[in-house]
Amino acid sequence: MPAIVLVGAQWGDEGKGKATDLLGSSVDYVVKFNGGNNAGHTVVIGEEKYALHLLPSGILTPGCTPVIANGVVVDLGVLIEELDGLEARGVDTSSLLVSANAHVIPPYNRVLDKVTERFLGKRRLGTTGRGIGPTYADKMSRVGVRVQDLYDESILRQKVTAALDFKNQVLAKIYNRRAVEVEEVMAELLRHAERVRPMVTDTALVLNQALDRGETVLFEAGQATLLDVDHGTYPFVTSSNATSGGACTGSGVPPTRVDRVVGILKAYSTRVGEGPFPTELDDEHGEFLRNQGAEFGTTTGRPRRCGWVDAVVGRYAQRVNGITDFVITKLDVLTGLERVPVCVGYDVQGTRHDEMPVNQSDFHHAVPVYEELPGWAEDISGCRTFEELPDNAQRYVLRLEELIGARVSAIGVGPGRDATIQRYPLLG
Ligand code: GDP
Ligand code: IMO
Ligand code: MG
Repeated sequence: MPAIVLVGAQWGDEGKGKATDLLGSSVDYVVKFNGGNNAGHTVVIGEEKYALHLLPSGILTPGCTPVIANGVVVDLGVLIEELDGLEARGVDTSSLLVSANAHVIPPYNRVLDKVTERFLGKRRLGTTGRGIGPTYADKMSRVGVRVQDLYDESILRQKVTAALDFKNQVLAKIYNRRAVEVEEVMAELLRHAERVRPMVTDTALVLNQALDRGETVLFEAGQATLLDVDHGTYPFVTSSNATSGGACTGSGVPPTRVDRVVGILKAYSTRVGEGPFPTELDDEHGEFLRNQGAEFGTTTGRPRRCGWVDAVVGRYAQRVNGITDFVITKLDVLTGLERVPVCVGYDVQGTRHDEMPVNQSDFHHAVPVYEELPGWAEDISGCRTFEELPDNAQRYVLRLEELIGARVSAIGVGPGRDATIQRYPLLG
């Protein structure tokens, strides 16, 4: 099973980090192909808890090579800080590879991300403020700075100067902010360049050659399907392709080499930031999910919006990603509920929708149609086989499986690496 893509099926924070870590010991490479330090993946190994933003979760597994591929946007300061933080905790990070074609997040894009959000006021997107959107915009506008540019000072200066000629006008004239100096930006970018240099390579070549040798490559998505710039709830999305197709463009590994797509689906729904969310709960059930599930952002600390699971979203994710296997995470969080609603369709002003509405305004007005399943009270965090789960928990998983259109191969019953029920092998 050489190339596997792992994606989020909802709005992020489904537990991709834990799932990647779980597979880490069985794969040779773990590749981050989209996004940047807007992601936040929490991995719990024994007593140790790691919060990763820019580094692929595979970095925690000895023998597994972590790769930051061309589709990622890299904040160099954050990269170094994360590497130093892990080294200080005894994690060997020396095998990290970084694509020469990945784009760099220059400091002015962090500033622009924040001032744009402030300027938008009520119309803001609720971004993470890490400069992600402006950096992808630069990439598409062909005024971005790539990792390889760090090693040619004259090209770097030309690119930064060209970008600032325009951006300083925007900063000063629209946002009333001070202009950014070219040399200030050069100094920040060059400060980290030498440290990163040994990691920089043609990662597309490395990965394709590894696949030629029969090695296993796992692609770990940041964000998720409904935050994808093409397939998500635009404009309330991130600025990259977080769906499985992004693994190919974001790494240079072609679709013909991808064998399996694993979708991570939380047993309920959460969303951080603005945008439509039909099953959102503003009542005590929402509070219950937030508290039981510790739903506070890994990156910004914001309380996550919570709601019931949405099978229409799950089915949509299955379709656009080609999900072959689902991992349902955080089933333990639902323990104690008398009844567990599952959204099976929407009512939009009297019209029933079984699939995501074509027009997004309809999604904004979608009223969930629920099927209520009986809950369970038993602690399930110690269950390690499907049969050990209480009957009603099994029923919940089986009903979801029926609705979302692919088998449920694993189930998370706690944050720890071992708190997982494996039903079918995810590899091999
Ligand atoms: P990611 O961004 O998709 O990697 O997810 P996050 O790490 O942002 O959020 C998922 C949170 O849920 C983390 O704190 C995980 O430690 C935790 N988690 C993952 N799987 C499970 C599970 O099955 N049960 C419980 N209770 N927590 C889990
Ligand atoms: P992981 O990988 C949840 C959201 C932000 C905002 C929108 C755009 O941990 O699942 P951006 O800074 O990317 O321009 O913000 O996307 N967002 C996430 N929400 N999990 C994430 O990553 C997210 N990354 C971005 O809250 O609504
Ligand atoms: Mg997260």
